[in-house]
Amino acid sequence: FDHQAFSRDLIVWYEKQKRNLPWRDNQDPYRIWVSEIMLQQTQVDTVIPYFKHFMNRYPTVYDLAQADEQDVLKAWEGLGYYSRARNLHEAVKEVVATYGGEVPGDKKELKKLKGVGSYTQGAILSIAFDQAEPAVDGNVMRVMSRVLMIDEDIAKPKTKTVFEDVIRDIMSQDNPSSYNQGLMELGALICQPKNPKCDECPVQTHCEAYAQGVQTDLPVKSKA
Ligand code: ADE
Repeated sequence: FDHQAFSRDLIVWYEKQKRNLPWRDNQDPYRIWVSEIMLQQTQVDTVIPYFKHFMNRYPTVYDLAQADEQDVLKAWEGLGYYSRARNLHEAVKEVVATYGGEVPGDKKELKKLKGVGSYTQGAILSIAFDQAEPAVDGNVMRVMSRVLMIDEDIAKPKTKTVFEDVIRDIMSQDNPSSYNQGLMELGALICQPKNPKCDECPVQTHCEAYAQGVQTDLPVKSKA
């Protein structure tokens, strides 16, 4: 597996094909953070109007930190999983109290913030701070289980660490933002769960599952 050629083909495709999404306008870490929290359990199309409204209402960490929790929950209404909003609100207050209103660009510090798990850490560090950290969610595990023929059970929490360790080793050091978002975009547009569009895939020549014809057998996911 030529990870440099894979990385180059992925990034070239992403830069050309990427969707114009409101959280892709700039690299403000607060903006990236809000978007990634919203996107964790909710589809892109649903998130877009909520994200725009939320950023209009709370354009900076200070605006959100000062807000009333009931108002924050109101702005979240319809997105569901309200603990995401409560945790985000609490974490943003912490950023004001402890970090002078600057979202930390450091893994250990990010980890201390409520609701910021390894996925969100990696997304913030790579997209907002250009650090080569993986951002592994279910979509990324599906894509990379196929590309690298990894047949570990993605229902097991430990499996995510396996993907994180592999991706950290092989990911682009020059453009981790486009690398991670390229994997997300590939999962959304091409490498879909049921009918992956392998004939349109920019990294088909690198895909080990495609070479073996087993792309739809991956990822392995146990029921229990
Ligand atoms: N899903 C999760 N994060 C995303 C992002 N930054 N862009 C598009 N889809 C996503």
